[in-house]
Amino acid sequence: MKRVVIGISGATGVIYGIRLLEVLRGAAGIETHLIITSAGRRTVALETDYTPVEVESLADHVHTQGDIAASISSGSFRAHAMIVAPCSMKTAAGIAMSYSDNLLLRAADVTLKERRPLILLARETPMHLGHLRLLVQLAEIGAVVMPPTPAFYHRPQTIDDIIDQTVNRALDLAGIELEHDLFDRWRGPDPPRHASAHAAGTRDLSTICNERIVP
Ligand SMILES: Cc1cc2nc3c(=O)[nH]c(=O)nc-3n(C[C@H](O)[C@H](O)[C@H](O)COP(=O)(O)O)c2cc1C
Repeated sequence: MKRVVIGISGATGVIYGIRLLEVLRGAAGIETHLIITSAGRRTVALETDYTPVEVESLADHVHTQGDIAASISSGSFRAHAMIVAPCSMKTAAGIAMSYSDNLLLRAADVTLKERRPLILLARETPMHLGHLRLLVQLAEIGAVVMPPTPAFYHRPQTIDDIIDQTVNRALDLAGIELEHDLFDRWRGPDPPRHASAHAAGTRDLSTICNERIVP
């Protein structure tokens, strides 16, 4: 049994955390523990059609950010990894400084001190030097800093494809293997890729982007 702690903070991109929960729901041998910060709850309501309660219903265990005595606040609780998706700069700062005044921050601090994988989908743009220094500090103390930056090598057709690629890569980094990959992994330039989509005349996102920049 692998216990995975998922934190959703108030940066834009709460859909990444929601998709993680959807993917892990019912996955064999996985137990999810969820904390959504108060800003994260606000952002869920602002940028998705989910309510925070609906998001919480996707997790096996839900903890409130004020419950500093919850199981996941102790290193003796055997969690496998933690993913913060998305991770605001405020939460990044709290983790970097061990300023554990809410359960998400405490659980992340515990993950680091126990030398377990901590994956941070740190999100802000552009970043000032203070943000960049925070991310360096996080990398130095053992976190994996993984800004949710889209990839295009897998020829995404939809925004869901872009989200799934990021979610699958975060799970890779957390050491969690899915029964079926959520995206087409890179296998080198030779294998035919998405031949059926192109034959059917559907357009990938890079084509659409190119059309926009051609006068
Ligand atoms: C719609 C929305 C989008 C936001 N996007 C970001 C973001 O991308 N990065 C960030 O650091 N903060 C962002 N914020 C601000 C954070 O929500 C705010 O700093 C909050 O205090 C973070 O608290 P938390 O880290 O405890 O969740 C956003 C706020 C809102 C309402």
